[in-house]
Amino acid sequence: MPIETELKRLKEAAGAALAASKNGRDLDLFFAEYLARGGKISSFLRGLKDVSIEERRTAGKEANLLRQETERKYAEKKRALRGEVAAKALDLTIPGKRRERGNLHPLTRVRMDIEDVFLGMGFLVEDTPEVEDAKFNFDFVNMPAGHPARDMMDTFWLENGKLLRTHTSAGQARVLSGKKPPLRVLIPGRVFRREATDASHETTFYQYEGIMIDENISLADFKGVIAEVMPRIMKREINYRVRPGYFPFVEPGIEVDIECFLCRSGCSVCKGEKWIEVMGAGMVHPEVLKNAGIDPRKYRGFAFGGSIDRIAMLRFGIRDIRLLWSGDLHFLKQF
Ligand code: PHE
Repeated sequence: MPIETELKRLKEAAGAALAASKNGRDLDLFFAEYLARGGKISSFLRGLKDVSIEERRTAGKEANLLRQETERKYAEKKRALRGEVAAKALDLTIPGKRRERGNLHPLTRVRMDIEDVFLGMGFLVEDTPEVEDAKFNFDFVNMPAGHPARDMMDTFWLENGKLLRTHTSAGQARVLSGKKPPLRVLIPGRVFRREATDASHETTFYQYEGIMIDENISLADFKGVIAEVMPRIMKREINYRVRPGYFPFVEPGIEVDIECFLCRSGCSVCKGEKWIEVMGAGMVHPEVLKNAGIDPRKYRGFAFGGSIDRIAMLRFGIRDIRLLWSGDLHFLKQF
């Protein structure tokens, strides 16, 4: 191959290789291949000793120029790359990487607060099944088949004859049976009712059931517990009252209201009543104790059940219960 052609190819190859070098590593390889001692340019120069004197003169001159030129371009590119890297490393205008932070669902927060308060009072926290036997959801708590109170609980029946529990009272059977008082148990959990939904009714919601059995328990103990617990789970001072209420598994049965803290004269939250119902309760019916194998002549106690959703709505000012199940991030991010 004529010496000019060889030089021309070398020039082109070096130009292309330098252009193709995108980072420091490429540039190092480029240097080793073309510019280093023993690299392609110096090998070319060394090869000139075998050609005629004229050729050596012109080609030698040009090859030296090529080397200078290539060294210059190489150094320039290296500087440019360094500058780029440095600029990248310290670009204070780049927006930070935003990490999405999750938070607990308001129902979870309230449930955990309730559990904390009751754990602090010596209650055990127990989980009982959402899919229940009718005998636990109804019979055990004094609602045998045909009892009219069963109708109040619009039940989801399953094909296998079981049901989705309509209240956490279904768990009483499981936490009381075969146990020896004193007993203090809290059962938080999800319950299901087949009803039309609106701003204050959902087919699915959470309840917390509490039960305390010992030899000398009375409603005064219950009131003591409520006075202690309610302000702590509502995170504010509250006034409460109890009224008579009917549930087949307690006698006497009561309902607990707290005074509306949003208004003095009636508002949409208390529906103009000035009081907001927060739980059903009462002294555990002797039949229920008997069903659990506990002697009602020796032991008695109270039970209560309230809605966790209701507490969350009051505490956080949520106007529509359906939002709690919406999965709507605009809503959930506010907690
Ligand atoms: N289970 C009742 C309900 O869901 C509440 C309740 C529990 C009432 C315990 C009395 C005692 O409405």
